[in-house]
Amino acid sequence: MIFGRIKPLDAILATAEKKSLHRSLGAFQLTMLGIGAVIGTGIFVLTAEAAQKAGPGMMISFVIAGFVCAVAALCYAEMASMVPVSGSAYTYSYAVMGELIAWMVGWALILEYAVAAGAVSVGWSGYMIGYLEHALGTDISDAWTRGPFDGGLINLPAMVIAGLVTLLLVRGTKESATVNAVLVAIKIVALLAFIALSVPVLNMKQFDPFAPLGFGGISAAAASIFFAYVGFDAVSTAAEETKNPQRNMPIGLIGSLGICTVFYLLVSAGVIGTVGAQPQFGTHGEALEPGSRELAAQCSAIADQAVVCSKEALAWTLRQIGWPQIGNLVGLAAILALPSVILMMMFGQTRIFFVMSRDGLLPQLFSKVHPRYNTPHVITLLTGLFVALFSAFFPVGQLANISNSGTLFAFMAVSVAVLALRRTDPTRLRPFRTPAILLVAPLSIAGCLYLFFSLDQKSKMLFLGWAIIGLAVYFLYSRNRSHVGRGIIDVHEDDADTPPQPVPPLPGVHTPGGKDA
Ligand code: ALA
Repeated sequence: MIFGRIKPLDAILATAEKKSLHRSLGAFQLTMLGIGAVIGTGIFVLTAEAAQKAGPGMMISFVIAGFVCAVAALCYAEMASMVPVSGSAYTYSYAVMGELIAWMVGWALILEYAVAAGAVSVGWSGYMIGYLEHALGTDISDAWTRGPFDGGLINLPAMVIAGLVTLLLVRGTKESATVNAVLVAIKIVALLAFIALSVPVLNMKQFDPFAPLGFGGISAAAASIFFAYVGFDAVSTAAEETKNPQRNMPIGLIGSLGICTVFYLLVSAGVIGTVGAQPQFGTHGEALEPGSRELAAQCSAIADQAVVCSKEALAWTLRQIGWPQIGNLVGLAAILALPSVILMMMFGQTRIFFVMSRDGLLPQLFSKVHPRYNTPHVITLLTGLFVALFSAFFPVGQLANISNSGTLFAFMAVSVAVLALRRTDPTRLRPFRTPAILLVAPLSIAGCLYLFFSLDQKSKMLFLGWAIIGLAVYFLYSRNRSHVGRGIIDVHEDDADTPPQPVPPLPGVHTPGGKDA
């Protein structure tokens, strides 16, 4: 195929067959799984950033981003059901488009997962500090709670939460099904409370002007707010455990994305219609970049009296409209629930590194497994270190955008792969087939490209730089060591020392790790 080295799909599938997971998930459980994985920093924190970019028009941004995710999710699900092994987009690409593209996808997934974990850590920090300030009635210095681009020096709380989650992962903590269900409930109740208190008191005047920065602003906000939907791939990867996947998969994917979109629209309407969501402009009339020093300075001049200045947009809004206690409780909900999003992201990251290392593309040290905890502790600690560093120094919006660039690249690659595989391997069993693929896959590719190019210049340049480093590492290191390149076709997943793979915790689900979750 395109670049020579292909990992044979049959070799990959040999493993999956042996795993034979129990098919126990129905449409409802899949939908809940999706909602649990998706709701996080995006809606709790980035709403403020989207307002700074698009004003009230951010409601359209939520719809655009949700739509692109829906078509990408349908492609992702076909791949996930055909190649139901770990490594997600990286493994799919290896089988279809060859090693080089797979390497680039894996490299981009580092952005998706590790940088996203950093973004959610920063989001958590904002809510934690806001909560403490209100509970204790003090003002905590920005110097230690915000990064250097955001009016501070270093974000210590974000580092602490990233460190704690890393330790949990090294110990092999998996979220139990009960904890997961409780956290989903907490998030939903918090958003429902926000909607119930804000939507009835909407003031339609706040929606005018609707798009102060034009369609460019709406596109830029869509590219950022895409982050709020990331995580639905958790649903796609559960294909193997789904009863009647052809029916239940699309219901689970579209259902959870649809429900999240409705939540996001109501929440953003609640913010816009109560406290207003107009961007802040600089002294020369230019819209300020979210997370920039200029915006931090402007916000300090107006004593943070605008939602776009808040690091805890939903709690802040409720306090402004006369519900300070409920605002604090919504903040507490974010403080409790966001660490599970960090955990999922970092878990995904370590497993991708693990598979890449097993394929010989990354040092073998990365796939070393702890003798007692049975976790890939070396790579978990290394991932944790980077997540902590990202979160210490960069603003949440910047991290989210960089993460989005990697995710969009990976989704695009998967959409191309699905289309290509229909041509090259039309007879292979597909437990789930993307409906109307000739429409859905091109829409997904175009949507991902559109959102990618709507990202800010800095994120696009960083992505380019990251890709160039990735190519250099591949040609200088990985290419010569690749197992496939050396003629070794190994599929290790059934080895006794393989750590549990990322299957989200659900009641009655048999994880490949062996035990019931
Ligand atoms: N969608 C997840 C969040 O918003 C990543 O936190």
